[in-house]
Amino acid sequence: MKKFFITTPIYYINDIPHIGHTCTTVAADIAARTHKALGEEVFFLTGTDEHGQKVAESAAKENLKPIDYCDKISPRFEEAWKNLNIGFDYFIRTTNPNHEKVVADLLQKIYDNGDAYKDRYEGWYCVGCEKFLTETEMVDGHCPLHPPEKTVKKSEENWFFRLSKYVPKLIELIENNETNYIFPEGKRSEILAKLKAGVRDISLSRENVEWGISVPWDTKQTVYVWFDALINYYSATQFVNNKKDFWPANVHLIGKEILWFHTVIWQAMLLSAGFSVEQLPKKVYIHSFYMIDGQKMSKSLGNVISPGQLVELFGVDGARYLIARSFPTENDSDVGIERFKERYNADLANNLGNLVSRVAKLAEGCDFGVFENASIDNEFVKLIDQFKFDEALSWVFNEYIDKTNNFLNQETPWKLEKDNPKRKEILQNCIFNLQTVAVYLEPVMPEIAKRILEIFEGEIKALEKSLFPRI
Ligand code: MSP
Repeated sequence: MKKFFITTPIYYINDIPHIGHTCTTVAADIAARTHKALGEEVFFLTGTDEHGQKVAESAAKENLKPIDYCDKISPRFEEAWKNLNIGFDYFIRTTNPNHEKVVADLLQKIYDNGDAYKDRYEGWYCVGCEKFLTETEMVDGHCPLHPPEKTVKKSEENWFFRLSKYVPKLIELIENNETNYIFPEGKRSEILAKLKAGVRDISLSRENVEWGISVPWDTKQTVYVWFDALINYYSATQFVNNKKDFWPANVHLIGKEILWFHTVIWQAMLLSAGFSVEQLPKKVYIHSFYMIDGQKMSKSLGNVISPGQLVELFGVDGARYLIARSFPTENDSDVGIERFKERYNADLANNLGNLVSRVAKLAEGCDFGVFENASIDNEFVKLIDQFKFDEALSWVFNEYIDKTNNFLNQETPWKLEKDNPKRKEILQNCIFNLQTVAVYLEPVMPEIAKRILEIFEGEIKALEKSLFPRI
């Protein structure tokens, strides 16, 4: 059976889940469900990133031991995803000793291959990104993604990773269409340009950051949190039952701010640890960001949208649909609660929901037998694989929902007697289209899809309440 392994970033637990984390996780779920529907064996991995300075600082603020803090926050992510009906197969936590062991083994290989050396790091560090910053990455003297106080000057003894050694190989892989793994295209050229501009080696360990995995050959240092975190994608396949064959990952889905780690550092680490080119992740898909009503989402602006808020307003499937429709692929996507409401009412309450109610009412008492599952169009799958959900959904709406509405209005079956075969034929046609819609919408709205299929199976009854109550 064809295998499909998809991952999300593992989220930092200094924060609670917001709509940004949510969009990546929902997107991965939609892709995972689509590949399941195609009959593939799917492994969908998500989790939390729990080590490092930033988590240790958050724990200290709450007077908690780091592990107690992690145990408190990590389940909030797991719950948020369950509340959104995200069908992840495993939730990894980097404090899991099984993961820690794989990290230590992989780093030891990097060391044994001569790719680690001791040196002093003198420069800037953004605690928000957990990232060593070059001057060129800073704007107005600090990391552009976080408040100025998060950018601190560091001088520390570290173990360094010979990243520069792998640059020619990475350029070769990315330039070749057969081996390129960076999508979409714009990000591929961005990374190539950066690689060609010259790359410096980076720290693989931290001094004075106790909250981390010990460097196997030097227990006074801990593994730099990004080296620890990236390995989650591989470690899960090694210690979760029966997942070894899922490596290499088919897709790492990530946001644009962590592109360098996922397209350069991660591949170099694997090559250094002895992985062949065939064993590198096949695709890193980079998406853009949500903006909220034209502004960056931030706690200080008070404009953070939580997944719980969306579920409360729009229901689980409504929330999933709105995220899919607004998913930021190549460009940032501006969203807001008011616009979500409009979209929900227009597409779901007034359009799809209304159509299902109308058809069920007209077909009350009919029985059209069992629905033979529709096969999924390749073009639709292609759009899903490129995370172009808006286009994919527009296609379903145009091709099936709008056409069914028009057909119904043209044919006016309500003017015909209940037992007129022509009336039955028209309704059967509409119902077949709605059943097909359910098949296409299943990855985005699994429960609604199931409901639609149930409504039209066996003797049809008018709905007591609409699938999507108007807001
Ligand atoms: N822990 C690291 C990832 C390690 S993966 C080996 C991390 N965590 S994070 O909690 O900051 O999550 C970052 C991810 O959350 C982004 O890459 C993206 O997937 C998602 N988003 C966070 N804010 C976002 C928006 N405003 N919009 C869309 N997605 C965003 O980085």
